[in-house]
Amino acid sequence: MSELIKGNLLAKKIKEELKIKTIELKKQGITPKLAVILVGNDPASQIYVNHKEKDAKEIGFLTENQHLDETITQEELLSFVQKYNEDSSVHGILVQLPMPSHINSDEILLAIDPKKDVDGFHPMNMGRLLLGNPQMIPSTPHGIMKMFEEYDIELEGKNAVIIGRSNIVGKPMSVLLTAKNATVTLAHSKTKDLAKLASTADILIVAIGVAQMVDETYIKPGAVVIDVGMNRNAAGKLVGDVSFEKVEPIASFITPVPGGVGPMTRAMLMEQTYLAAKNSIKG
Ligand code: GUN
Repeated sequence: MSELIKGNLLAKKIKEELKIKTIELKKQGITPKLAVILVGNDPASQIYVNHKEKDAKEIGFLTENQHLDETITQEELLSFVQKYNEDSSVHGILVQLPMPSHINSDEILLAIDPKKDVDGFHPMNMGRLLLGNPQMIPSTPHGIMKMFEEYDIELEGKNAVIIGRSNIVGKPMSVLLTAKNATVTLAHSKTKDLAKLASTADILIVAIGVAQMVDETYIKPGAVVIDVGMNRNAAGKLVGDVSFEKVEPIASFITPVPGGVGPMTRAMLMEQTYLAAKNSIKG
């Protein structure tokens, strides 16, 4: 039996705190504003973006939503980013990924003002994170670190295995865990004997995008298991990358899907939007 890491409850607490802090910021004449750019009609992206806007509104932020046609050109998209860079009432700019294949998303992310890059995907923010002086931290790994803190999960000296090397999750996660003195292995689809490697982990973070791939053969008894996956199974049910039923009996802590990492990702995005707005006072 493992303890459930309730991301939804922690996210709610963080959002309640942000609500209060936002009232204070408004007294200083600043209302945090998040601009969200979504290109195309990917149903999952649409759901994520709707959730982010709902969270922002509940906290008391302003939002601006640009839902752009799939056929938009690189130049047109860049002009939207520029517009929000120049608009001093906008504090956070979020470009939902993935972008359609004709868009060079690296160039789009590079165009965002690093101070408004609430996702932390700009090379400047990624570089600062790598160098140990972060300003904006990618939301999913940031949210996972908050969960470790909340549940008093010790990281120093622990073996952490991350499955998945994406720029959004795996790579920044490896940097954050290293900064907390964990010994990190960043594994991926080409790693040999993944289950054997994973079963050496005290902390296992799974962000591979394959429904319920991780079963009990991947788990060291007593491991902390963080499931970043969001997949639909054959019955249309939302499931993670971890088989909860098989892993829950042997782990010490586990995140559920839904209600684990997802709400924390959004809470961290909101926190960074609040901070971007607060920091805008200093100019
Ligand atoms: N696509 C999947 N996760 C994310 C995220 O955290 N931010 C953005 N912008 N796009 C995503």
